[in-house]
Amino acid sequence: MPCNCCEIIDGAFGEKEAKSQLKDYRRKGPAKQTRLILEAIRSLHLENAELLDIGGGIGAIHHELLEDGASTATHVDASSAYLKEAKNEAARLGHTNRVKFIHADFTDVEANLPRVDVVTLDRVVCCYPDFHRLLGAAARHSQRALAMTYPREAWYFRMAWPLMNFLQRIRKDPFRVFLHPVPEMDALLRREGFKRVAVRRLFVWEMVLYQRAVD
Ligand SMILES: C[S@@+](CC[C@H](N)C(=O)[O-])C[C@H]1O[C@@H](n2cnc3c(N)ncnc32)[C@H](O)[C@@H]1O
Repeated sequence: MPCNCCEIIDGAFGEKEAKSQLKDYRRKGPAKQTRLILEAIRSLHLENAELLDIGGGIGAIHHELLEDGASTATHVDASSAYLKEAKNEAARLGHTNRVKFIHADFTDVEANLPRVDVVTLDRVVCCYPDFHRLLGAAARHSQRALAMTYPREAWYFRMAWPLMNFLQRIRKDPFRVFLHPVPEMDALLRREGFKRVAVRRLFVWEMVLYQRAVD
């Protein structure tokens, strides 16, 4: 069901951007930071894993993992334009029957979704104001692993971030970007029973892989 978050995000991640991203994906494959998530998940050597991709955009993660390692995927996304392109690509790849698409703010629908093996959030937490709510719910849905990317907490982003949001305000665009504190996100995931097993960095993005800690 469309929510306020969906309305804001539909404006920010619209048809033009979605089509252009799918075109790029078909031409060049997954983006660099997405490749880091894929490598991290593949390093776990899971078989027939159930995947939950939150804010999956045009669906690169499940398009790739349904070819090796994953049996099914649920893609929850607040952008209807991205979901439409993800569905088109899933159909082209013959994955339609293995992916469930849900147009929603994940935090609004999570109570009705089952736990899965792997949860991914690629460049999603920085679009959402309340990382406690989003990541806490994401973590509770993962039985084995959670991988995500977010902007690095580098000094140049700390300086640029307020400027980006200032420009959004001037444009009268309600969409905002969030540079959440990495140690606090890490602490939250540890409290939910995960341990961080990999960190990889690009200039803009940091990728982290968490696994459920076993006693
Ligand atoms: C920057 S895009 C990233 C898309 C894709 N993961 C990628 O890396 O190309 C952010 C995505 O997160 C989705 N999103 C943000 N907050 C969300 C939420 N609370 N629930 C579901 N989707 C969300 C947006 O709709 C959008 O598709």
